[in-house]
Amino acid sequence: MRVLGIETSCDETGVALYDTDHGLLADALYSQVAMHADYGGVVPELASRDHTRKLLPLIQQVLDEAGLARSDLDGIAYTAGPGLVGALMVGASTAHGLARALDIPALGIHHMEGHLLAPMLEDEPPGFPFVALLVSGGHTQLVEVDGLGRYRLLGESVDDAAGEAFDKTAKMLELAYPGGPEVARLAEQGNPRRFRFPRPMTDRPGLDFSFSGLKTHTLTTANNLRDVGELDDQGRADIARAFEDAVVDTLVIKCRRALDQTGLKRLVVAGGVSANKRLRERLAIEVGKRGARAFYPRGRFCTDNGAMIAYVGAQRLLAGERDDSAMKAVPRWPL
Ligand code: KG4
Ligand code: ZN
Repeated sequence: MRVLGIETSCDETGVALYDTDHGLLADALYSQVAMHADYGGVVPELASRDHTRKLLPLIQQVLDEAGLARSDLDGIAYTAGPGLVGALMVGASTAHGLARALDIPALGIHHMEGHLLAPMLEDEPPGFPFVALLVSGGHTQLVEVDGLGRYRLLGESVDDAAGEAFDKTAKMLELAYPGGPEVARLAEQGNPRRFRFPRPMTDRPGLDFSFSGLKTHTLTTANNLRDVGELDDQGRADIARAFEDAVVDTLVIKCRRALDQTGLKRLVVAGGVSANKRLRERLAIEVGKRGARAFYPRGRFCTDNGAMIAYVGAQRLLAGERDDSAMKAVPRWPL
């Protein structure tokens, strides 16, 4: 089965072709990051308009790359949520229009399920069951995964997502958008001993997270440094380092706990923050100590992409799932 995957939930237009016999055939991504950077964050109306401009050319591009025609498609999968509703509607309506014209099924996919199963596109995919840490701009969740569609939420953030905290910290430190990679880069120059930030909710049992207090702590520290004239390059780097260490430590502690609690030996880490180098280094050590193994998507599939949607869509379409005639675009949708 050959499935076209479409991702338009936020600021990346992602398109890919997945074949259930031959794997990933082609993928293409257009990032709107440069456009939104001028505004310091994603402007929903501009995002929708840009998806409209880029989606059809990208679909043609992946078909050309794979040497296929539209008539070779057996199904279309698109991100139905969660995300920006106007942006989602571009992908959903295009998917349904094309599916109707080609007389093939369309299916709306949960964006986080895409992230969750993105490591399945790698050469050595994890087997089921596994624990997954989903860390993106909108979500921080620990999930026990027994198979396709068999997910049990173990814990999640009660307020901000980890990626959101990275992005807000970047703003406080006057770094470019998107902030995660910028904070990580600046942290390289930081002194890890100058500040110690709190590791929220690690001193009590449970697998939930909270990052909003840490954000406030970061802001207070930045303001205090500014007051004494020390918010210079070194001061900002030291704050970035203390912030990153606190987030990474918190995520690592909870992953360790989730592995111990479930007795599972496989950990999947996905979503934008899974690209973080220090997080990967720390997890490698902790997971190794437990005789367990960590699995990640390749770099460009850590953040939003069409391949993960094509993959999940192909599995579900193959199992006979399809949308009824209505397209689906839901800003909020629990996994
Ligand atoms: O999964 P994603 O592309 O989009 C959402 O579904 O949210 O994740 C984007 C998030 C942003 O908050 C970004 O700052 C963060 O992932 N991010 C990182 C890194 N690369 C991306 N955070 C920390 N370190 C990184 N290297
Ligand atoms: Zn995402």
